[in-house]
Amino acid sequence: MKAEPQPSVPARMTDRTDRTRLIASATRRGKGRRPVAPPIERASTLLNDTPGAMRDDSQGPVYGIEDLSAARELRDLLCDLEGAADAWLVPSGLAAVTVPLTALLRHGDEVLTTDALYGPSRRFLRRHLGARGITTAFHAAGAATDDILAAITDRTRLLLIESPASLTFEMLDVPALAAACRARGVLTVMDNTWASGLAFKPLAFGVDVSVQAVTKYVAGHSDLLMGSIAVADPKVGRAIAETLEDLGWRVSPDDAWLALRGLRTLPLRYLEQARSARMVADWLNARPEVAEILYPALPGAAGHDLWARDYAGAASLFGVVMRGGGEAAAHALMTALKLFGLGYSWGGFESLITHETGQLSGRRWPPVLAGQLLRLHVGLEDPHDLIADLESGLAAWRAALS
Ligand SMILES: Cc1ncc(COP(=O)(O)O)c(C=O)c1O
Repeated sequence: MKAEPQPSVPARMTDRTDRTRLIASATRRGKGRRPVAPPIERASTLLNDTPGAMRDDSQGPVYGIEDLSAARELRDLLCDLEGAADAWLVPSGLAAVTVPLTALLRHGDEVLTTDALYGPSRRFLRRHLGARGITTAFHAAGAATDDILAAITDRTRLLLIESPASLTFEMLDVPALAAACRARGVLTVMDNTWASGLAFKPLAFGVDVSVQAVTKYVAGHSDLLMGSIAVADPKVGRAIAETLEDLGWRVSPDDAWLALRGLRTLPLRYLEQARSARMVADWLNARPEVAEILYPALPGAAGHDLWARDYAGAASLFGVVMRGGGEAAAHALMTALKLFGLGYSWGGFESLITHETGQLSGRRWPPVLAGQLLRLHVGLEDPHDLIADLESGLAAWRAALS
């Protein structure tokens, strides 16, 4: 008989503070009769009654590029979530990484980052910044803090942190890195998409710039692209605000409205998906076809101690290292699944699976894994159904190997 998977969620993941605050801002009094959600204002230009009013800043924005109601409310709410002095919206999660780097780096500077960085961010470092005289040094994924700090040179201007890192989910000691970098005058930018501003608060741990792909859990419905950039220090913020002004990047009012709607229910979705992810990960971990689960939230997994110390929750995204196999077996497993979509982005309501072995070859130090690497995103479906689906996937895997 199949063992019934038990939900097992750390107590801290039921923290209600963010959950209440993200909703309470909508019902705050003193703003008169109004809809709960702000209007979607589609506007390039805003009209004025008099020529004098055109230069009166107290009347709000005069141009759509200054952000209208939904974007302003979303920015305020992201500031609240991130504990930030200011937050900006950009057209993708990738742009949330590239804008602070553009703003804070100059010709001759060097960036230090993980070998397991999100691929398109790595491409930006190589192609765009490399062509402009800004070099990149890599540290091994999941390196010890001292080894990372030893790689800092006179030219290191910025440490780009991604923890857990892409595809292989290595954790870093972010509080220690942030403190040591600040003491040495090295700026820190963290791609915090996995924690979604909820399970980990980079600014509270001394990171200078916290970025995330709003595309993922905040939007939550796989229907838009957006990124956010949050800072605690207004001086760092000024460089970012001016860069955005210079580049002319803003998000559409419709997307801002959808992302704001997503943000209201982020904690509930995130918590529920983590609960299901943990059940699925526990079940997979006990299977003979699986060699290792790459998921810091799982006791015994790499990075679990750091996660348990610093995180108040977990994303529903993790890696599955199969025992041996090849591409054909991985594809057979994926083909047999009926509930997991075959798709790359994550953080939406739907479960997804990708085959990632091929992506690892671009690393300087490709990890030595026991077999094929799959990545699972667990959505809001009933986890028992997902497990039954994976059972068929594993049967197809075994058949492909025999
Ligand atoms: C860690 C991480 N950062 C940033 C991004 C980029 O987000 P977007 O798809 O909105 O550009 C992704 C997308 O997969 C990601 O996984």
